[in-house]
Amino acid sequence: MNRRYRKTIIAGNWKMNMTATETKKFAEDMKKIMPRVKWCEVVICVPACNISTAMKAFKEPRIIVGAENVYFEPSGAFTGEMSAAMLADLGVKYVIVGHSERRQYFCETDQTVNKKVHAVLDAGMNPIICVGESLEQRETGITDDLIAMQVKSALFNVSAEKLRRCVIAYEPIWAIGTGKTATSEQAAEVCRNIRGVIRNLYGARVARGVTIQYGGSMNPKNAAELLAQADIDGGLIGGASLKPEQFLDIINAANGE
Ligand code: PGA
Repeated sequence: MNRRYRKTIIAGNWKMNMTATETKKFAEDMKKIMPRVKWCEVVICVPACNISTAMKAFKEPRIIVGAENVYFEPSGAFTGEMSAAMLADLGVKYVIVGHSERRQYFCETDQTVNKKVHAVLDAGMNPIICVGESLEQRETGITDDLIAMQVKSALFNVSAEKLRRCVIAYEPIWAIGTGKTATSEQAAEVCRNIRGVIRNLYGARVARGVTIQYGGSMNPKNAAELLAQADIDGGLIGGASLKPEQFLDIINAANGE
């Protein structure tokens, strides 16, 4: 983390978990244990059908509500999709874009990710842009090139002004939901390279202001070490964000430096 130049953001990604009733219960439990957090932003991205419930329930534990997905068209005949304007109107601040599960199961490509990034930014919200390599890609030695490509594509035609609102989440696919975490060195190296790609595109001053998260089996045990790395400015947390105590432990780990 480097608090002087950029925000630390601890964000939960609930994926397809938690009913509205469970969302309320989670908020009540968090309210009981969560201190006033000043050292980072705390966000939870919830299933779309629970956004309104979360918006009310998360007020007191002071958790910012995010969405897990968006469609890039402004409106029209796209059954089942949600526009950025719809999310912004509900008060959503962050939207996860290009999560590897969406790339894998729902045919998202670097091009659609870029369109979604623009839709989110144009609606005044902040995209959390996910990038990451598979185990096979890592073993072939193409991680750096692949991630650079994903970052450049996602940010295509994004102005330096708007880049300030973008968060990049490095999530090695082989570490998601598997209990396998990247070592802090592996995670730090890729996050440093991501900042290098942004520096080449936008210059050093802009690059040092961008929040880069690590995601992939982050938990109370490994969070402090991962978050202590200079270029890791937060976490995108799946499994451990479903449990109030674990999520709080990670939030507290971000208070390390
Ligand atoms: P995980 O998920 O923490 O359960 O590995 C992270 C993510 O996919 O965002």
